[in-house]
Amino acid sequence: MSPPRKLLIAGNLKMNRLPEGALEDDSPYREGSNVDVIAIPTLLDIQSCIDARIITGAQIGQCHNETTGAHTGDISMQMLADSGVRYVLCGHSERREFYGETDEDVAAQAIAALDANIHPIICVGESSKEREAEKHEKVIKRQINVLPLESDITIAYEPIWAIGENALRAATPEEAQTMHSFIRSLLPEDKRESTRILYGGSMKAANAKELLSQPDIDGGLIGGASLQLEEFRGIVQIALALSSGEGEGLST
Ligand code: PGA
Repeated sequence: MSPPRKLLIAGNLKMNRLPEGALEDDSPYREGSNVDVIAIPTLLDIQSCIDARIITGAQIGQCHNETTGAHTGDISMQMLADSGVRYVLCGHSERREFYGETDEDVAAQAIAALDANIHPIICVGESSKEREAEKHEKVIKRQINVLPLESDITIAYEPIWAIGENALRAATPEEAQTMHSFIRSLLPEDKRESTRILYGGSMKAANAKELLSQPDIDGGLIGGASLQLEEFRGIVQIALALSSGEGEGLST
């Protein structure tokens, strides 16, 4: 049997500064060992996270595929890699929606990240309309099939209807597990067991245990709760307890 996938808890801070205390010694962004924890802040906070020895990711709007050149306002993947950025978030639905990023753009960003030795976390997810029309599997398949699946990547399943302040609700653990298992079935056989698939969409300390206990959910991409340090700490602690086999004792 292959070893279980290590849980990854990623804070997607979107266009928000780091919450107070995020860089302190007892910051939940630091908790590691059995669980990978990373911060994905704005460009302004990347360097302070790296200086504080927090594993840091960048948001894709900040990164250009070319290494250097005449691209006013951009910064390259290579520059981010050189400054210590380890992950990059690609294909978030907010970028797909507001900047018209296509499936092909997202794949190109992921490839550029890999070329610069940065690990891409690639978001996929259907809208509420697509789910109502029972097109969710078709949409996810389209989004997944263009990706560099033979490389080491992380996928984040983020149903759009479950994300952010306007979320209808979080996906239930069963709904999320069904989609994660479907996504896993689309991966090449030699990557199927090793690729991490995160869930994103209103994950909080209160629903993290049930979501993270699902066999195909390998962590969380956390938006709103990443800005509230104690809420984020709660999620990280649940992930730590589940990975050390102590999940049973947790109340939710
Ligand atoms: P949320 O955001 O946790 O606030 O729903 C998740 C995301 O958009 O990555």
